[in-house]
Amino acid sequence: MLKISIKKKKVKMNKERRATAKAVRMDPDTVLIVRDLTKIYTVGNSTITALNKVNLTIRRGEFIAIVGPSGSGKTTLINCLGALDFPDSGEIIYNVDSKGMGLDLMLMTNKQHKKIRLRKIGLIFQFYNLFPILTAYENVELPMVIDKKDSKVRKEKVRGLLKKIGLEERMEHLPAQLSGGEQQRVTIARALVNDPLIILADEPTGELDTETTTNILKIFLDLKNSGEALLMVTHNRRIAETADRIITLTDGEFTGEVKGGKPIEEIYK
Ligand SMILES: Nc1ncnc2c1ncn2[C@@H]1O[C@H](COP(=O)(O)OP(=O)(O)O)[C@@H](O)[C@H]1O
Ligand SMILES: [Mg+2]
Repeated sequence: MLKISIKKKKVKMNKERRATAKAVRMDPDTVLIVRDLTKIYTVGNSTITALNKVNLTIRRGEFIAIVGPSGSGKTTLINCLGALDFPDSGEIIYNVDSKGMGLDLMLMTNKQHKKIRLRKIGLIFQFYNLFPILTAYENVELPMVIDKKDSKVRKEKVRGLLKKIGLEERMEHLPAQLSGGEQQRVTIARALVNDPLIILADEPTGELDTETTTNILKIFLDLKNSGEALLMVTHNRRIAETADRIITLTDGEFTGEVKGGKPIEEIYK
């Protein structure tokens, strides 16, 4: 009985999505537009507004940090933008063809949704989320395998990225044979492997010491300088100060924004 009702709901959602997915024009340099994003969790009789009408525009080559204490809605934001969770209302418009054709994540067909997740969004998590039985090389390669990329193209890309993040020598290692910082570098390579529009990082340095954190931030700044868009959420204000823009998230709402750009060498002074 339960199975049947779940199936029915899924079909209905597909129909709704297909009926409403429409392209909108956007500035080609804009990667993502978020409008009035709201997410409400219901637990028993109570509701929690994890995100309340959040608005944000991210451009190419922009590094944005969102700072807020535990429970302020950071992970919920990353999960909604990263197509891992569905918001209750609002718009998440991605520049899907990189030329200014915008599509709302919530109104896409299942096929478009899957493609965006695989090709346009690079996710980095606090606890790395690597497959323990795959080597560093295989972990980085996996999104390309899922995307059915040719094996020669895969090899060149994966090796190039591992070299770029300084892990060429470690590519046959399993995650358990790597340090935290090395594992996080593998996830950065994995996030980049399908040339995403944006990198979304949830507390990417939360488990790392200061020296390793500095190395990860250097990689982020290199990516930014090569035109990548990055959105990082963190409870750590010091780390956030290296970003171009620092936005404060309080109880699910954006409550302030300041300019960042502090040199990495100065964040721990
Ligand atoms: N799956 C869930 N079900 C119910 N409440 C949730 C769920 N996920 C998060 N919350 C609540 O939403 C709020 C925001 O959580 P979260 O986005 O994880 O914050 P942060 O990452 O900033 O610590 C918190 O009050 C949290 O308890
Ligand atoms: Mg969190």
